[in-house]
Amino acid sequence: MEHSQFFKYYQNLFGPRWNALALALQGESVYHKLQFAENREPYFLDEASYFAAKQLGVLPGMEVLDMCAAPGGKTLVLASALAGAGSLQSNDRSLARRQRLLRVLDDSLPEASRKIVSVSGHDASRFGLHRKECYDRILLDAPCSSERHVIASPAHLAEWSEKRIKRLSQEQGALLAAAVDAARPGGQIVYSTCALSPAENDDVVRKILKKRAGVIRVVPLTPEIEGTEKTEFGLHLLPDTCGGRGPIFCAKLEKV
Ligand SMILES: C[S@@+](CC[C@H](N)C(=O)[O-])C[C@H]1O[C@@H](n2cnc3c(N)ncnc32)[C@H](O)[C@@H]1O
Repeated sequence: MEHSQFFKYYQNLFGPRWNALALALQGESVYHKLQFAENREPYFLDEASYFAAKQLGVLPGMEVLDMCAAPGGKTLVLASALAGAGSLQSNDRSLARRQRLLRVLDDSLPEASRKIVSVSGHDASRFGLHRKECYDRILLDAPCSSERHVIASPAHLAEWSEKRIKRLSQEQGALLAAAVDAARPGGQIVYSTCALSPAENDDVVRKILKKRAGVIRVVPLTPEIEGTEKTEFGLHLLPDTCGGRGPIFCAKLEKV
């Protein structure tokens, strides 16, 4: 029953495109190999995720926050961009996922990069209260519907509901508000998800632009991967048009 609701929902959203997209979601991903030194473990990250993390424009010396960092693929990209100068706080609320994150950091980063990364376990929706205007760059890779995983798992398919999308989009909105409040004036935020629905992507950005009107502006992103689609506020990389990469939605905001 839930099964067919999932397919019906996305069929309504994507129309005739859904069949090809559903097939591509079940196909092979395309990975970018991150290897920072010969004696460090390689980490394989979807090329669309790699693209999203690069869009934050991290430079050496910056203070960076990765609000939802585990298992850590994107955090590795941010850490390496700092080149040993500045700081990165890699946060994740889940203890089990944080343990995996710590292993990834220890195994993959060279000493100079590893020592400027700290790991925390806060509820990221509270960063705006406790760390107001503290960071130059913030990545919010938000918890989302993750349809690529849902479609591959009968257990997740059975749990899927439209209500869950609504709940997630509210959570995403609270996290993005916290990101805006925790960014310094002039600071930049990348909001990303691996969700298909605009309810978790552009709609979340539209709401924050209203909620924090006059405080933030959208920074346009340039597509680099063939097949990337421009949306109202950002870019959507979907596996049926991006050769298996994605899904990733990303949008960039700047605090004015
Ligand atoms: C999409 S995953 C992050 C993937 C990660 N950025 C990467 O590239 O490997 C979302 C993460 O958000 C964490 N999370 C969910 N709600 C959170 C919250 N309120 N505060 C902090 N972390 C949260 C989950 O534990 C999960 O690890």
